[in-house]
Amino acid sequence: MSNQNDNIKLAAVAAVSFTAGYLVHKHCSSSQPSSTENPKATSQVFTQKVISDVQASWKLVGTDFDAAGALFYTNLFKMGPFLPSTAFKGVDMKMQANRLFKMIDGAVKLLDKPDDLVPVLTQLGVRHALYGTLEEHYAVVGSALIATLGTALGAAFTEEVKQSWLTVYGVMQTVMVAGQNSEEGQAKVAKQKEYRTHRLVRSSWKAAVGENFEAVGELFYTKLFALAPSLKDTLFKKVDMKAQSTKVIKMVDTCVGLLDKPNELVPALRDAGLRHVRYGAEAAHYPVVGQALMQTLEAALGDKFDAETRASWAAVYGVIQATMIEGAMKGTP
Ligand code: HEM
Ligand code: HEM
Repeated sequence: MSNQNDNIKLAAVAAVSFTAGYLVHKHCSSSQPSSTENPKATSQVFTQKVISDVQASWKLVGTDFDAAGALFYTNLFKMGPFLPSTAFKGVDMKMQANRLFKMIDGAVKLLDKPDDLVPVLTQLGVRHALYGTLEEHYAVVGSALIATLGTALGAAFTEEVKQSWLTVYGVMQTVMVAGQNSEEGQAKVAKQKEYRTHRLVRSSWKAAVGENFEAVGELFYTKLFALAPSLKDTLFKKVDMKAQSTKVIKMVDTCVGLLDKPNELVPALRDAGLRHVRYGAEAAHYPVVGQALMQTLEAALGDKFDAETRASWAAVYGVIQATMIEGAMKGTP
């Protein structure tokens, strides 16, 4: 088992140089087209032996991907018992096994066409960034694949054939990981995270506040004045707190409604920040206001204010605070 992992690691190292060579070649040929160079000949990633070993042995596996896939996932979960409750939580493994084998089938057919294969694997890697795949998972998947081929092929899975598969898997892994770590992959992850954060903030706000702006606002100021008693007799001394309670919640409500529209949210917050300079608000006041808001949500939501919801609100309040302070600073000479 660990021996297989070592082999895969070695193959991956070899793959880096193969792939790097391929990418360097691509770059050169696009920036300096040369009539003496034959891009198809020099951009091959695999030797002919590797290609024929892998293609011939893959044919022997047959086209019953459901059976091979089931065996693969049995092996995978034996080797990575943590996977069903982490990476593959809630995934229909039968369908998943079929998709994996179809993808390998497609890749095997493209081994001699790296110009077609690499973009497919890169995009697959970009999508895997969204599945929460970690780099170290690839060794486990590779070992399960090798074990499955061993069972499916029996004596036909010679040491040489195995080495050819390790080379191919190493390249697949390297290109997929590069796709996962690419700007596109990371941007997709950030977008997915942001989407989740906004969705949680919207749903928890609705649950906590509903139409009760004034009551929730009063709760908020009770919390705020408990945290910072001096504010009551200074900045808020002459403020009509009943009206203010509704106003503050209404503004947070507007912010929550505009989370996906930064072009509208940011200027509105900057303006509010500037107005707050006139109310005597200072940058140092913002964290305690944030704390009061969190306590208000906690009181209203109880257990529903879980760690992820709390973290989402902390992120959103961080942006509100930073943007208001920015507005205040830009507006004051
Ligand atoms: C060479 C290696 C791999 C190949 C060829 C591969 C292939 C695929 C394919 C074809 C899909 C279907 C969805 C899509 O096309 O985006 C998929 C989904 C997925 N893969 Fe992989 N994969 C590989 C490695 C891994 C690894 C290392 C993990 C981590 C344990 C992983 C976890 C997943 C998960 C969680 C899904 C999503 C299933 C779902 O939400 O329906 N894969 N993979
Ligand atoms: C997320 C942060 C905040 C929000 C959403 C918010 C919201 C509001 C709103 C909607 C008003 C009504 C007037 C207007 O819109 O200009 C207001 C007024 C006020 N805010 Fe804030 N505020 C925030 C932070 C702060 C901070 C950090 C302080 C300083 C302790 C503060 C102190 C005041 C005061 C003193 C008023 C006075 C209003 C008056 O004189 O009538 N606010 N706030």
